Amino acid sequence: MPPPSTLSLPEQLSLLSLFLCSIAVVGNTFHGDGEPLIASLAFSGMAFSATYAMIRWLGPTFMKAGLRGKDLSKVHKKEIPETMGAVCAVVYLLVAIVFIPFPFYKDIVAATSGGGNRDVVVEVVNIETGRFLHRFPHNKLASYLSALLSLQSVVILGIGDDLFDIRWRHKFFIPAFASIPILIVYFVDFGVTHVVVPTPLRPYLGELLNLGWGYYLYMAAIAIFAPNSINILAGINGIEVSQSLVIAGLLAGNDILYLLPPSPPLHPATDSHLLSLYLLLPFIGVSLALWTQNKYPAKVFVGDTYCYFAGTVFAACAILGHFSKTLLLLLLPQIANFIYSAPQLFRLIACPRHRLPRFNARSGLLEPSVTPWTREPNRLQSLLISVLEKVGCLGVNRDEDGKVRETTNMTILNLWLVWRGPLREDRLLNEIVCMQVIVGLGGLFVRHKAALLIFTVDNL
Ligand code: UD1
Ligand code: MG
Repeated sequence: MPPPSTLSLPEQLSLLSLFLCSIAVVGNTFHGDGEPLIASLAFSGMAFSATYAMIRWLGPTFMKAGLRGKDLSKVHKKEIPETMGAVCAVVYLLVAIVFIPFPFYKDIVAATSGGGNRDVVVEVVNIETGRFLHRFPHNKLASYLSALLSLQSVVILGIGDDLFDIRWRHKFFIPAFASIPILIVYFVDFGVTHVVVPTPLRPYLGELLNLGWGYYLYMAAIAIFAPNSINILAGINGIEVSQSLVIAGLLAGNDILYLLPPSPPLHPATDSHLLSLYLLLPFIGVSLALWTQNKYPAKVFVGDTYCYFAGTVFAACAILGHFSKTLLLLLLPQIANFIYSAPQLFRLIACPRHRLPRFNARSGLLEPSVTPWTREPNRLQSLLISVLEKVGCLGVNRDEDGKVRETTNMTILNLWLVWRGPLREDRLLNEIVCMQVIVGLGGLFVRHKAALLIFTVDNL
């Protein structure tokens, strides 16, 4: 068996073939209008091979640098490399930078050579004023570059967090700063702050409601929420990457709906959904590579960098693609986890450093982890505990006098274990991912079909 940091021969051959095929496909897109979507797919293939190989090669280097964590839900709590999301993010950013000319191939040709008519005489005055650059879609380029800038900022801050373990209340706002570039481009380029009012409310509010600055606060809130909500739905092998892959896959599926034939070729949303795909495809490439190493039993951990990076990719797609409500539908399990976690996050109930499920070494299964109560709960805490207990949403352990001794930690992973009983780590992951796929598909269905019940048109 090769040591864990090296690639076996079949792995080397498969990764190399994928990498070379992808290069050949990219080389083949330089004709006609260029084929940016095919190029993006091929770049994603390259990103997959590069990430897969680099995660394996860099494991020991990360361990030596202190970037390692104990896998708490195993009999032997072995240390494995952490922060491997940084490798994903760096490969992604490099690929996204090399990809910059591809969506603009047609426009670059038009702007620099007179639309392919090389016999067209270019006047000196045109050369000095930037040739035909007024034809170039600077707004599209600005959108793409702002997404890269936001992602770079969040990755720097995420790596800082993984290195220095920043306090939760501080790191909550990290993505707010990183989202400024995309919000500015939204302001300059699109600037719509109106929302369509559901039909039943129209007699009171009119057809459109202008939220003004409130709309920017709402988008900033999405940019803060998406990364943090992925980071707190964590603690079992593979869950951060799996949930991100489900969201990315469903977002990409939704984008493709807008590009398929019944939509007219110049549908107003085509460009924004193409931009979203250019951001999502390489993300899926690097995430699949990370998933192969992070799935149960994990060989590496993803680190907070990955959670911030993934959430910001989604926020950038949704804000620049103008489909933030669709993203919220796909984040329903994360929203549920956040709301359920709120009493612990906001310290109404004590929140230990780790809330991941407890590993029972005897049975090899995961059980809900608990917070011990050293003092009697106050009135508000008692009310919350008894209401949640009554509706079956909290495990409570009481002593003979009925005093609360322990309550289960408030995450949907622990709640799932309260409902389903002890489960193996991979089984818990599979069930949560299935739930997420079902909820996500339901969300998309509601978005496109049930939208007609409360709005007059679906914008597909
Ligand atoms: C978030 C959660 C915390 C959870 C942690 C697990 C909140 C407020 N914070 O904290 O409750 O315990 O994620 O990721 O909800 N680990 C495993 N197995 C895994 C994944 C992680 O044992 O499959 C452990 C490892 O020791 C790893 C550590 O968790 O080193 C990573 O924790 P970190 O991402 O730093 O925790 P937070 O994001 O701060
Ligand atoms: Mg984390």
